[in-house]
Amino acid sequence: DIPVITIDGPTASGKGTLTDEVAQALGYDVLDSGALYRVTGLAASRHHVDLDDGEAVAALVPTLDLKFESGRVLLDEEDVSADLRQEATGLMASQVGAHPEVRRALHQLQLNFRRLPGLVADGRDMGTAIFPAAPLKVFLTASAATRAERRYKQLISKGISANIDSLRADLEARDARDKGRSASPLQAAADAIELDNSQQTIGESRDLVLSWWQERRPF
Ligand code: C5P
Repeated sequence: DIPVITIDGPTASGKGTLTDEVAQALGYDVLDSGALYRVTGLAASRHHVDLDDGEAVAALVPTLDLKFESGRVLLDEEDVSADLRQEATGLMASQVGAHPEVRRALHQLQLNFRRLPGLVADGRDMGTAIFPAAPLKVFLTASAATRAERRYKQLISKGISANIDSLRADLEARDARDKGRSASPLQAAADAIELDNSQQTIGESRDLVLSWWQERRPF
């Protein structure tokens, strides 16, 4: 059995950074499941498929030419990593992720990321739907103000101008949709450990997760 740690939580809670840090410390692989929803939304929009048509978007999934190479995502051999990080793509991801047909189409693809010695999986439903037997599930949260501020600093440091109030409104709207949908809504698994990292450095959060893993790892 390949050990899996799941890290779920709302937009801009720091899941991606924490996932990378924990995976690096353990030598594990990473599943950025949000990238799968993002690339599905991007491909659907490029093929002029109606993002509200769940069956049509799901039908596109098996035809996608996708490659994951050390943090980069290739769609039809083109590096789309920068497009995937756009806020507009996050909204498209949230739109296609609301359809149960799309979630089913992406299910096996996510399971295929498991490799020895282990996997850290980042998303919204890793602990509830995709890896329900994972021995360690983390539900990461931070206040909306903290999350908006982090996203703001991230953009500014890249030379992209941003408005903190509209960033906060965008992420709260996306969270509301992710929580309100009927298919795998954003929620903590019953056996998840909740971690509010508003007042923590990334190193503190990482060390906490690693200490939980020491207690719970199955070998
Ligand atoms: O985590 P990230 O911001 O990249 O995710 C983009 C969107 O994809 C989320 O807002 C959510 O709607 C969707 N998503 C999902 N299930 C996942 C990962 C992402 O529905 N496991």
